[in-house]
Amino acid sequence: MSDTMRRMDFANRTVVLGVGGGIAAYKACEVARLVVKGRGKVRVAMTRAATRFVGPLTFQAISGAPVVVDLLDEQTERSYGHLQLAREADLFLVAPATADLIARLRAGMGDDAVTTTALAVTCPILVAPAMNTRMWKNPAVQENLAALVARGWHVVGPGAGELADGDVGEGRLADPDEIATAASRLLGNLDLSGRRVVVTAGPTREPIDPVRFISNPSSGKMGYALAAVAARRGAEVVLVSGPTALPDPSGVRTLRVETAEEMARVVDDVAPGMDLFIGAAAVSDYRPASSAPHKVKKGPGDETLKLTRTPDILAGLGSRLAGKPDAPVLVGFAAETEEVITRAREKLKGKRCDLVVANKVGGSGSGFGSDTNRVALVSSTELAEIEGPKERVAEAIVDWILPVLDARRPRAKPLK
Ligand code: PMT
Repeated sequence: MSDTMRRMDFANRTVVLGVGGGIAAYKACEVARLVVKGRGKVRVAMTRAATRFVGPLTFQAISGAPVVVDLLDEQTERSYGHLQLAREADLFLVAPATADLIARLRAGMGDDAVTTTALAVTCPILVAPAMNTRMWKNPAVQENLAALVARGWHVVGPGAGELADGDVGEGRLADPDEIATAASRLLGNLDLSGRRVVVTAGPTREPIDPVRFISNPSSGKMGYALAAVAARRGAEVVLVSGPTALPDPSGVRTLRVETAEEMARVVDDVAPGMDLFIGAAAVSDYRPASSAPHKVKKGPGDETLKLTRTPDILAGLGSRLAGKPDAPVLVGFAAETEEVITRAREKLKGKRCDLVVANKVGGSGSGFGSDTNRVALVSSTELAEIEGPKERVAEAIVDWILPVLDARRPRAKPLK
């Protein structure tokens, strides 16, 4: 089986395909065919507009099952409606997702077979946008899509190139095999199943008094992406998070804390039996030696703040666990503004981690708060660099950890 085919294994999985009314609807037929070819089941729901581009019979022929279009069709609703689709779905794939369909999905509408299915599914959702470049760049479309991503939805594409209307630019539906590969990744490689993973994320807040604290600009995005990826790949994930504006990632047990000491306590509680620890949190190294019970009144002159060290969560795990035969794999991060690799190697040794993910902070497009990251993966034997959206960087970090994990803690039974 070719590597592409291997990546597209859909055995024992059902992909519900929601087809939007765009010129690229015909490419959804190829996506459906690839899922069937990957030994998966396809069930199709179409918007009315989609039927203007491709007839339901085409999808019925590929999927071998009735296509849901009209919610008010007594016969199909009774025998096979959107709720049945939602029950069967291991993945809900919306392709092509037009600007209008994305807006209605974001608004939680339930006015056609695709939007009602989206409201009823509990499985992961993958959206493949397709529209004219000018529409794709419209802030309304971008905001709608960002809102879906914030709810834990996944996006593949769009691609760039010549569009049906002759324009050239971003907005083309991703290629069918890219969509099918993304769908398969979301479903297929449950290569962390049976594993217990603990991830720390976000900043900590060290109180000066009830209204002031020391913190940092960590948004939590990197750690949340890692927790979501590990959960999607079958792990049982506990996310210990400092204060963030992010929703709990789906399929992850999220425990929220404020201070470094609280984070350390919670990590100690959940650490026993873990296979993997990933310290992505920007844990404050210092806290005010004492925090005032009431707001410190402003005085005429300067103030001095005495700081004291906080517990080093990662180093504590390293000193307690590293080197033991069944020690969990410890992955640390290094946030550096200069000499990134040198400092990362120092942390690798100093904190007795197996791997360190080093990222340059303080600039744009990487580190704190950005949607993308540029990281160097540092171990005692290798160095690799990865750049891109934090979700993709997280996938690559987990890919990198996997062989170390499987070598350190072989599975009790081989994956089926
Ligand atoms: O959250 P985002 O906005 O997405 O930004 C992501 C990030 C920049 C925060 C992330 O990629 C990152 O670099 N996290 C680590 C930040 C950090 O504190 O790095 P450090 O070099 O100060 O710490 C080294 C390691 O020790 C880290 O794994 C850290 O979690 C851990 N540590 C540090 C101090 C402490 N008291 N306890 C710890 O466990």
